Amino acid sequence: MLSREDNERLTRVGPGTPMGELMRRYWVPVVFSHQIPKPDCPPVRAKLLGENLVAFRDTSGKPGLVAEACPHRLASLFYGRNEEGGLRCVYHGIKFDRDGNCMDVPCIAPGTTTETQINAIKRQMRINAYPCEERGGVVFAYMGPPELKPAFPDLEWVRVDDDQRYATRHIQECNWLQGLEGGFDATHLTFLHGGAAEPSRKFVPSLYEVVPTDFGFVVGTARDLGGPVFHWNINVMLMPFHKIISSVPHAAHMWMPIDDENTMLYSIDFKPEGSGPFTEEELERSRAYNGIHTENIPGTDHAVRNKSNDYMIDRELQASGESFTGMKGLGIQDCGIQESMGPVVNRQGEHLLVGDTAIVKIRDLLLKTLRDMEDGKPLPGLDPRTHRVRSTRYEAPKDTPFKFDRASIDA
Ligand code: FES
Ligand SMILES: [Fe+2]
Repeated sequence: MLSREDNERLTRVGPGTPMGELMRRYWVPVVFSHQIPKPDCPPVRAKLLGENLVAFRDTSGKPGLVAEACPHRLASLFYGRNEEGGLRCVYHGIKFDRDGNCMDVPCIAPGTTTETQINAIKRQMRINAYPCEERGGVVFAYMGPPELKPAFPDLEWVRVDDDQRYATRHIQECNWLQGLEGGFDATHLTFLHGGAAEPSRKFVPSLYEVVPTDFGFVVGTARDLGGPVFHWNINVMLMPFHKIISSVPHAAHMWMPIDDENTMLYSIDFKPEGSGPFTEEELERSRAYNGIHTENIPGTDHAVRNKSNDYMIDRELQASGESFTGMKGLGIQDCGIQESMGPVVNRQGEHLLVGDTAIVKIRDLLLKTLRDMEDGKPLPGLDPRTHRVRSTRYEAPKDTPFKFDRASIDA
């Protein structure tokens, strides 16, 4: 059980909230590069951390991210004209560049306002803009205090060539923490994803370890399959909402909060450097939507199988035992069940069990990180040198303690 106050601290992400301020200390995903495919293409809406924003690519080809509301009389810049190095509001023609500078105020009639006054108006008329970096097929932004901007994260899936990555995203209609908790909840694999699950997943873990690290934390779960060893599954959480998944092919998630009640879940398959591009056969497997990727309604970030159609649950399939849920695909199973808990789950109503040990430890660690931020202490995962980590699986004698050893990684 989590107190109401702690639940609020962990889940609210708008400006000025503790978790919102924490997430604003990191680079966050905005849109895929292909959503703003060329210079001066139409802008796209991007709601991030409760802020209504518009992403665009200017004439130079560089991405920009500005507030959606034009500072003149707050019309939406989504309808704006993206032309000649800036975004022009279609209400009265005022134009802004990707740094937020007002470039032109054509709605002032000549002779009514002096040049000096116009320059003063332009200085006042700035629009909120966030710096962007485009890497790995994704536009990222930094929304925090400029003086605290960290170096760009050194994520493996970002670093690999474009043909070594397959990435999709879809909207989950629930708070980001429900997604992250589901991502590190090893117990549910046996049930929610049960049926055609790989054999080791049919065993509920016996041990749950969560260890804080310099990039976030690692979650280790040990399964007892009956022999002399534990089967360990180690998953990496990189601050503030990345998961590197211990799967083949390698995969990653980002639970990017749209606002308190909606999350953009990015799902990425990738092949490590030097292992060549994805084959057509491998891509076909991802596009069959049985794994983490979801089939979306064309042109949207909404899954075809969604809340409004009960995720197209197949009760016969569920009854057959072939699928525990009767829902198609791991991604839809996760999304469906996490949305079913409500937009922001009230964790005071929970009755936690030993299988929720990792979840409790993760909450404690996130709350501690919030306190550290408020106390001005250093935060994990801001130094790109800490990002070169992978999740893994291994077997070890049952008395081997679980630990994370940075020194042995760097050696
Ligand atoms: S509201 Fe945008 S120019 Fe007037
Ligand atoms: Fe899952």
